[in-house]
Amino acid sequence: MDRLAGNARLMIVSDLDHTMVDHHDPENLSLLRFNALWESNYRNNSLLVFSTGRSPTLYKELRKEKPMLTPDITIMSVGTEITYGNSMIPDEGWVEFLNKKWDRNIVSEETSKFPELTLQSETEQRPHKVSFYVQKDKAQDIMKALSTSLEKRGLDVKIIYSGGMDLDILPQGAGKGQALAYLLTKFKAAGKLPNNTLVCGDSGNDAELFSIPDVHGVMVSNAQEELLQWYAANAKNNPKIIHATERCAAGIIQAIGHFNLGPSTSPRDVMDLSNTKMEKFDPAYEVVKFYLFYERWRRAEVEHSERYLANLKSVCCPSGTYVHPSGIEKLLCDCVNSLKTCYGDKQGKQFRVWVDQVLPAQVGSASWLVMFKKWEQSGEVRQCCLTTVLLSSEDVSVTQGLTWVHVHQTWLDGAGPNSQTTWLF
Ligand code: GLC
Ligand code: MG
Repeated sequence: MDRLAGNARLMIVSDLDHTMVDHHDPENLSLLRFNALWESNYRNNSLLVFSTGRSPTLYKELRKEKPMLTPDITIMSVGTEITYGNSMIPDEGWVEFLNKKWDRNIVSEETSKFPELTLQSETEQRPHKVSFYVQKDKAQDIMKALSTSLEKRGLDVKIIYSGGMDLDILPQGAGKGQALAYLLTKFKAAGKLPNNTLVCGDSGNDAELFSIPDVHGVMVSNAQEELLQWYAANAKNNPKIIHATERCAAGIIQAIGHFNLGPSTSPRDVMDLSNTKMEKFDPAYEVVKFYLFYERWRRAEVEHSERYLANLKSVCCPSGTYVHPSGIEKLLCDCVNSLKTCYGDKQGKQFRVWVDQVLPAQVGSASWLVMFKKWEQSGEVRQCCLTTVLLSSEDVSVTQGLTWVHVHQTWLDGAGPNSQTTWLF
């Protein structure tokens, strides 16, 4: 929450399943496109918030399966759990607030009287969330009856139907929308309201996000019937909400462009990155660009041309070194040379590279220290290095680009060395 000194340029609050993450795209292309856009243009000055129905357990599973970025704030279990930063520190104030007029035992007792309700797995039952499956055609009637019986027992609850199968019971003050409103109130009190907020969703539990005042919203093209119905009944005259024509994360990128919230061209959509016109030195963009080139080189998606390697060498400081995660030290120029032999070695294979949490810090009048996590997925094997790069603008023009002075990598805990793969950068 305190990462940014000022107001965020943009805060994206996005659902995960079928919104940020497309479960029908095994290549994860739209997610990877979003990642490159976010890391090159927004990470440093904006806030990424994931808001999912998943419990912490299932959220962590998804992160292992898909090339997801690390959010600044994670809202889980349908807006009942809010956590901050990489170590996911819980918001205790939110927990306290949700305890009002809530008694899980009464919910369990009352719901057990409905044979149409099938309890979801144990991991999805949370302190402020009780979840079931229920058939689509029975959902409306059951929700009505449940709400009456819980009210009679003195509880003030919210019942949400999502994805044509999931039924969640939460305290009335909970939900994705309420959790966002709570965050916005906190930001306001600290004088740090984001300049713009974009909410993104596809299903019933996302509807509330779209009713928060002053936010922009995108329902991705593949949004569920229940969300589109809610929109038709409640928000169709709101020009700040669109139904994208693109699926999942591509719909989010589309909305950034539609509402003019900032740059909306992902570096992944630019084929020749060596020609990009820069207005100022941009260390984050430099890092994203390099690793995209590296992926394309190994997938043989760029021309097999010496020109690229010569360009790369020209931005390496002649005495610059690279400390490999194994501890071996090499000259940066030698590393570029070793790229020669691996052109196309991943052609036609599953091979993706992405960077997460690219955070540059200016450490001198002409130098930046950029820290980030560099991920590489090759087939089933996924590895990650905490990476530090020292870049310099001494004696070079913006068009020439920053000079790479030093690169240092350390295996990320639990995502370390693997004998089957070669780690080059
Ligand atoms: C996620 C959760 C599930 C919940 C659903 C809808 O799938 O795992 O418990 O019912 O979202 O909110
Ligand atoms: Mg969803």
